Amino acid sequence: MAELTVLDEKLAEVLGLAQAAQQATRKVSQLARREGEGELVELLQRMSAEAADTAQRCQQVADEREGLKTAIREKARETKREVAEFMETYLEDAEALDGLEFLSMAEAGELAHWEILDTLNRRARETAVRQLVESVLPIQRRHVNDVRESSLRLAADEDPSEPA
Ligand SMILES: [Fe+2]
Repeated sequence: MAELTVLDEKLAEVLGLAQAAQQATRKVSQLARREGEGELVELLQRMSAEAADTAQRCQQVADEREGLKTAIREKARETKREVAEFMETYLEDAEALDGLEFLSMAEAGELAHWEILDTLNRRARETAVRQLVESVLPIQRRHVNDVRESSLRLAADEDPSEPA
């Protein structure tokens, strides 16, 4: 299979992370629904749709990388699988707050990867990658903030002396 550059590998990783985020937000929205957290369900559904859109945009950029389409897809699948395995372990018998804790790690990791891709591309100067990063970074920053705020709101409603 074609050899990926550092830039292509990072593109594959943000693609895989967006695909994983789509699944993770859907899973946590189910937990939130069970607890009657309607507003949180809506937020997570919006995030899931944005993750799907991000994945699609990454895919479009990847498809334009000459001869690397398959290798990028393969690497993205690997990244997605790694996150999915971590999610399964973390979210066994989970409540919505556990779900948000998982998402806080996943979304922060996703943001870190986008910032790294942004930095790599300052030297690579690929127009398609620059446009992709510029459109996704603000959304990704908002995801990190929204998850943080939601988790703290749920935590404030918890009775700390209850059995865990
Ligand atoms: Fe996200």
